[in-house]
Amino acid sequence: MSKSAEKSRKKEVKQSLIPIYIMGKKHEVPDSLTIQKALEYAGYQLVRGCGCRGGICGACGTVYRFPNSYRIEVGLSCQTVVEPNMYIAQLPFFPGNKATYDLDTLTATGSTLAALYPEMYKCIGCGTCTRSCPMDIDVMEYISRAIRGDIAGTAEASFDCVMCGLCAARCPAELVQYNIAILARRLYARHIAPPAKHLAAAVQNTRKGVFEEGVKKLKKMGTEELKKVYTGRITEPDIADEFWEPEDMTYLVSEKTR
Ligand code: SF4
Ligand code: SF4
Ligand code: FES
Repeated sequence: MSKSAEKSRKKEVKQSLIPIYIMGKKHEVPDSLTIQKALEYAGYQLVRGCGCRGGICGACGTVYRFPNSYRIEVGLSCQTVVEPNMYIAQLPFFPGNKATYDLDTLTATGSTLAALYPEMYKCIGCGTCTRSCPMDIDVMEYISRAIRGDIAGTAEASFDCVMCGLCAARCPAELVQYNIAILARRLYARHIAPPAKHLAAAVQNTRKGVFEEGVKKLKKMGTEELKKVYTGRITEPDIADEFWEPEDMTYLVSEKTR
């Protein structure tokens, strides 16, 4: 951006600039920005602690507080809008306890969760994890289900978890809730959920080379042609029947075979 353009941009936003503190240093940033954009506006280059920018990947856990408040607040920096006098620190990585295991040798029972994460019994039911979760998950509830040995229930209640680590960062009992939850989801998928027939069929088709010709054609296309093919592809309508399928099923496995 040229110097004059930069000057006029700064003039435009001047009225709405607010002070925030990043790692203790004061910066003036537009009040409409998310914390993530404010960090960039202030000159930080986000190498860690940033991924999808859309509240999905969980890479951007952030802690902050306001002057004269004892409370530590948490949020995803790509979703949380700056407020005056925020003191902000990014959590590029949370060093949570992560068990290693061979999923095939485990049983889908509460004893497995207990053996790999015995600290879950230290939960004091304070609810801080639930209040910290940017995905509005009832984290304490899924931990209660894990403690009761309810694998399917834990998997279901934690399904929207983006693994941001904020619940663990705040837990007074030092649980790493998201790792307990992902183990439950893995156990559920591997040992409880019925095998997905359409997935097995799709894998078989891949092995048979069904997609190879199509891939070869795509590889030969230029950017514009690729764009045309992409924008012209058949997509599911906003309102579709439960078992909607496209007319051309060349590369797909029919619902009817599931
Ligand atoms: S923050 Fe920790 S101790 Fe508190 S309810 Fe959640 S898991 Fe239990
Ligand atoms: S459950 Fe924990 S790790 Fe998962 S999204 Fe909520 S706060 Fe983040
Ligand atoms: S960058 Fe992915 S959730 Fe914020």
